[in-house]
Amino acid sequence: MRERLPLVMGNWKMNPVSASDALALATGVRDATRALAGVEVGVAPPYVWVPAVCDFLRGSHVAVGAQDLHEREDGAYTGGVSAAMLRGLVRYAIVGHSEVRRERGDTDARVNAKLKRALAAGILPLLCVGEPLEVRSAGDAAAFVRAQVRAAFADVSASDAARVVIAYEPIWAIGTGVPATGPAARETVAAVRAELLDRYDRELAQTARVLYGGSVTADTIDEFARQSGIDGALVGGASLRAADFARIAELVAEARR
Ligand code: PGA
Repeated sequence: MRERLPLVMGNWKMNPVSASDALALATGVRDATRALAGVEVGVAPPYVWVPAVCDFLRGSHVAVGAQDLHEREDGAYTGGVSAAMLRGLVRYAIVGHSEVRRERGDTDARVNAKLKRALAAGILPLLCVGEPLEVRSAGDAAAFVRAQVRAAFADVSASDAARVVIAYEPIWAIGTGVPATGPAARETVAAVRAELLDRYDRELAQTARVLYGGSVTADTIDEFARQSGIDGALVGGASLRAADFARIAELVAEARR
């Protein structure tokens, strides 16, 4: 069975403000993670810095991701960036991030369409799922997240599904400084895998990479990295400081040894 190589992906969101700062951050991440083994490292800059960061990191060990993509192939979609435009540039594209679901109204159906566009273009989707606080409080987190996974994988073949990375990101933990607990994250990630088992098979459920995201820092990552079934992290705020981000990746790699 395929080994699950952990992934630590930095979601830079709407940062940094200049191209030179973006390249400085990319340089810092590349240099600070160069010696790490047993973990894949990636950065997802805003679209406008993607070509420069891709040029800069080409041939290095750091993967580049886009933070989103448009669900249509082409056409009159102002502000849109298509999978075809990203093809050949990025290895990953984040789809279904809760901020995009919230701010731009992405539905499960649109997330499914984006995921399929990425796959068709040879880009690995990094699918985000996660429940709001009221769902967690009501004890329905597992069912909520399973439904998001089910919808995102609608009409996706098993061979395509094997190329998707999933990030479990409880909405209430994103950017709040209050991460989930390790056991709660492990349980919900197990629910994600249970859904993959129902929808596909044991092999996929066991080999899919599933990350945790939400207020991950160098101080909090260990709790998640040591949970069975969690294969790294999607990191927002702490990914803007190369040394912190590299430390997170190092701790993820260490937890696997
Ligand atoms: P955070 O963001 O690490 O700043 O909480 C995580 C994310 O939104 O992917």
